[in-house]
Amino acid sequence: AAVSSPVAASSGTDVKQETIMKILNRAIEVKAMLKSGDRSFQPFKGKSMAMIFAKPSMRTRVSFETGFFLLGGHAVYLGPDDIQMGKREETRDVARVLSGYNDIIMARVFGHQDILDLAKYASVPVINGLTDYNHPCQIMADALTMIEHIGRIENTKVVYVGDGNNIVHSWLLLAAVLPFHFVCACPKGFEPDAKTVEIAKSAGISKIEITNDVREAVKGADVVYTDVWASMGQKEEAEYRKQKFQGFMVDEALMEIAGPQAYLMHCLPAERGVEVTDGVIEAPNSIVFPQAENRMHAQNAIMLHVLGA
Ligand code: CP
Ligand code: NVA
Repeated sequence: AAVSSPVAASSGTDVKQETIMKILNRAIEVKAMLKSGDRSFQPFKGKSMAMIFAKPSMRTRVSFETGFFLLGGHAVYLGPDDIQMGKREETRDVARVLSGYNDIIMARVFGHQDILDLAKYASVPVINGLTDYNHPCQIMADALTMIEHIGRIENTKVVYVGDGNNIVHSWLLLAAVLPFHFVCACPKGFEPDAKTVEIAKSAGISKIEITNDVREAVKGADVVYTDVWASMGQKEEAEYRKQKFQGFMVDEALMEIAGPQAYLMHCLPAERGVEVTDGVIEAPNSIVFPQAENRMHAQNAIMLHVLGA
């Protein structure tokens, strides 16, 4: 049976605020231990994780593999050419075979249905390492980074600028559970999934705004967040999107409108000079690298949670 968790295949809305906070607090605790050099905590000793990647990755692959190893476990990387899930072999077969060897499965796939199918047929926990629909591990790391830099998530204003993509869906699903002000400023026609916007709005927990007015949106933001305009699987649309996204680049002028309190966040990889300038990534209020590092700490806590360790 699939494990229901903020990062398993579920929509994300079946997770309680209490669970999210418990995972984030655990992340802070285990991070402090690892940063101190203490390697005595080995809860994953004798455990194995299969990592399925249908798409490229640096952060997700290295943070999961290293994090699992630092806590005593062994991770197996399966790249796009290895198992060719859905092509060489059906997803439901992959799920059952890998469950026989591993204590946990982490997967990065194209269609969201693939992660749902993995979770349905696996007998071990399945962690979503990004789908075309969402990227929950990223948003858990982002939340952790906000706690470290701002001190809280509650009552902050997070303004996402750019494509209404998988990252936005995960922000919306978080906003359905934790209270903050979330704004997505995107060009017309690139809004996030309407059903997911409705889930976030009808939860009645956070203030949710979807707008095309980027300059108005960023005013007073605690976080200005952006991501590539063409996600994995959309790279052939890159030139077309560059035309459509004119005015949505996060640059020095936009950060100035946001105000001096605003931190810059980006899930990375970034295309400097496209969705974001080199200058704002390198600016003192950019927290993109602590954010990237926190992928490992957030995921360690997620793995501890799903394994009940
Ligand atoms: N942010 C993120 O998921 O990066 P990778 O694609 O490198 O894993
Ligand atoms: N939206 C991007 C995120 C990469 C981490 C993509 O899906 O390619």
